Amino acid sequence: MGETHFSGLPQGGRGRILHAAMIVTTAELYKVAYGKFALGAYNINNLEQTNGLFEGCKQSEAPFIIQLSKGARSYAHKQMLEAMIRTAEEIWPDSIFAVHLDHGDEASCYDCIESGFYSSVMIDASHESFEKNVEITKRVVDRAHAAGVSVEAELGMLGGVEEDISVDEHHACLTDPVEAVEFIKLTGCDALAAAIGTSHGAYKFKGQQSLHFEVITGIRDQLAAAGLPPTPIVMHGSSSVPKDEVLRINAAGGKLDPSACGVNLDEYLPAAKLGVTKINIDTDGRLVWTRVHREYFRDHPEQFDFRPPGKIFMKEYANFIASRNEKLGSARQLNAVRESLAAAV
Ligand code: 13P
Repeated sequence: MGETHFSGLPQGGRGRILHAAMIVTTAELYKVAYGKFALGAYNINNLEQTNGLFEGCKQSEAPFIIQLSKGARSYAHKQMLEAMIRTAEEIWPDSIFAVHLDHGDEASCYDCIESGFYSSVMIDASHESFEKNVEITKRVVDRAHAAGVSVEAELGMLGGVEEDISVDEHHACLTDPVEAVEFIKLTGCDALAAAIGTSHGAYKFKGQQSLHFEVITGIRDQLAAAGLPPTPIVMHGSSSVPKDEVLRINAAGGKLDPSACGVNLDEYLPAAKLGVTKINIDTDGRLVWTRVHREYFRDHPEQFDFRPPGKIFMKEYANFIASRNEKLGSARQLNAVRESLAAAV
């Protein structure tokens, strides 16, 4: 593997106090993780998810990426989310993480870039033509890099439903590695969200299917052939949709399609070794929430205090996060990140 150079972002800046919790740039995390392990990128919307996420990453000693979607920013209010994260930083002083805008449009990207709070933004113009996608992404990259923020952009189209984005199976298409290299060259994006066979939501596959590893290696090899440095690949739609969670939710009154099926957890690490450096997980966390709350209120029909199930959820979500970090290979990588940050000072 050639010399790894992650974006033209300015070195230094935010997050250099090495004994305290830190929001760092996503580029700094990518530098440590690339080709070795993947960073879990977890969506949060509320206090319970925030607490569970920080606790789970503490337990597993893992660096991580917090993802805030447009939907989360309007559900909880962007200032509330920022305040929760800054407070969590104080409560979990050993944590190291980046804050990322998930599936932004131009307006939300600029808002996050200008806030000074976000480590990175995702501009999702994958539904546009190649040329238009390049044009929009390039505009966002220029504004973001000037502010020391890195940019994830998407090429190819994942199927499934996520918030206000819905792509049917017919329109979903895998990323073309040759096009991907052209896209990276033209836009200067720091990470590429590539369509490698997954989709958003709980209904990813009919029967268990494998990731398209040939697309991942194709992008890596085409970049090398063009004399370009490696670019981290981001896998969206990475939830595993555990069967037992679906069955337990249905046994407690849910009506999820029992054929729901997700990504094989044992494919996270092989993908990471090939350059998939950020793995997005949202649906699985929602399943934990739904199972805990459905079971609790089924078993305690006289109850209306939401704190007892909330407590159970925070504990279960922390365990879930720690277990995913083991599969991603990010567990026990906190020291490697600390050392890398110290060396860069
Ligand atoms: P899942 O729906 O598989 O959790 O994917 C989430 C995601 O990709 C967020 O961007």
